[in-house]
Order: sequence, then C-alpha cells, then structure tokens
Amino acid sequence: MEKIIEIVNLKKRFGDKEVLKGVNLTVNKGDTLVIIGSSGCGKSVLLKLIIGLIEPDEGSIFIEGVDIVKLNKKELYKIRTKFGFQFQGSALFDSMTVEENIGLALRENTNLSNKEIKKIVAEKLEIVGLPGIEDLMPADLSGGMKKRVALARSLATNPQIILYDEPTTGLDPIMSNNIDEFIKELSERLKVTSIVVTHDIFTVLHIADYVAMLYDGRIYFYGKPKELMNSKDSIIVEFLSRTTQRNLSRR
Ligand SMILES: Nc1ncnc2c1ncn2[C@@H]1O[C@H](COP(=O)(O)OP(=O)(O)OP(=O)(O)O)[C@@H](O)[C@H]1O
Ligand SMILES: [Mg+2]
Repeated sequence: MEKIIEIVNLKKRFGDKEVLKGVNLTVNKGDTLVIIGSSGCGKSVLLKLIIGLIEPDEGSIFIEGVDIVKLNKKELYKIRTKFGFQFQGSALFDSMTVEENIGLALRENTNLSNKEIKKIVAEKLEIVGLPGIEDLMPADLSGGMKKRVALARSLATNPQIILYDEPTTGLDPIMSNNIDEFIKELSERLKVTSIVVTHDIFTVLHIADYVAMLYDGRIYFYGKPKELMNSKDSIIVEFLSRTTQRNLSRR
C-alpha cells in the first residue's frame, strides 16, 4: 500500500492546553480513514494541521513524502490544491450564491474562464444530486442541501484527498445515509483518499476502511471498524456506548 499521508509525533498546544501530545497516523492512498473521539479532543485541530491551516509545535506531516510543516506559504498553497476540505458546519459564504461558493477556489487559484468554471460547478452540483441550483443563496437551502453544496465545493478542484469534518452531524437519518453513500462512492469511483471526522457510529461502520480514535492527545485505537466494535478496552467500550446511545436516539 502506498502511503499518501504520514503524521509523525505531532504536537499542538493552545496556551496551557496540550491538545495533541504526539499523534502518529498513516493513511494509504485510496483509503477512507474515519477519526472518532470525544468532543473537544482535537479532531478538527488535527484536520486543520493536515492541510496546513494551523502550524504544529512539533512533529511532521508528510503528504506524498513532502513534510508540509517545513514549507513556505507558496509551496503550501500548491500542496493544498490536492485537498478538498469540508469544514465543520459547512461554512458557506452567506453573501455568495451557490455557484460563487463552489467556484471560489477555481476563481482564486486557477486561470479558468468564467464559462469553464460554470461548467465545473454544474458538474459538481450534479454529482451531489442538486443540479440547477447555482443561483440560490445559502439562506435558501435546507441544512442537508448546505452540506451537499459544501461537498460540491470541496470537490471543485478535483482533489486527491478530501477531509470531511462531521459531514452528517445535524442531518436526519436518510440524509446522513445519503451523505455516507456519497462519500463512499467518491472514494470508490474517483479513487480519492478520504479522512472523515464523525460522531456517527453508523458512518464508521458504513464507510471506514480504518478507524482511528483520538484520546488524551494521542491515537488510542487504530484498526478496522470490526476490531473497534469488538474491543474490550474499557475506554473504547465506554466511548462507543455513549456514542451509540446518542446515535440511536437520533435515528
Ligand atoms: N484556535 C484555537 N485557539 C485556542 N484553542 C483552540 C483553538 N482551536 C481549538 N482549540 C481548542 O482545542 C481543543 C480541540 O478542539 P477541536 O475543535 O479540535 O475539538 P473536536 O475534537 O473537533 O471537538 P468537536 O467534536 O466538538 O468538534 C478544544 O479544547 C478547543 O477549545
Ligand atoms: Mg470538531
């Protein structure tokens, strides 16, 4: 298996708070890695470190063999075009149309013409099952539609690696399943590598090739979803029972 991401001894603190205390994690090309862990344990911070939005205090993040921690801004931008990133909560720009939101990265980072960008936006909307809504504003969309537009935006640059931060949180079960299916299909059809942060145990079972559980600043568990579910480790059992209860109360 070819490694596409390798994280070595990654540390990050905010003030007195040591959030990541030495994270080691590898993602193979084409795999879907799901990251789980309690609220506030550092999952979003880890994703932001992986695309260089924030800097670690120590450690390395190799993307296809290049340590992005050592790159300057310009080099980092270039690496970042390999990534699609769906922020927690979708984070569309409210004052921009759907089309402007999806086309933003293309407009800013490529020399494509307006016509070409329009075509790509239409394609991506088609992929997420929302054709023809280019001119709507985010305020016109339901929660599920916003998530899907955010997905379309993360696909705009044809990324090789897509990071999703809680893509199904707050959605109803049917929409959650749709999004799961969608992520799975992308990874199978377009062979993208995916990292998905979720609180949704159904998502874990449905789409993960591997699961990593972040706990106390480190990767506490790494393995197949089945191994996670069969684990007798008390911290994992506790976490799963809390998460599953919450999921069941929603589904
Ligand atoms: N820019 C920042 N400045 C200060 N503290 C921060 C910053 N970003 C994150 N933190 C802190 O780091 C910790 C981890 O935050 P993070 O957002 O990664 O949690 P999370 O695991 O994604 O939680 P959730 O499941 O609720 O989304 C939290 O205590 C948070 O307050
Ligand atoms: Mg988070």
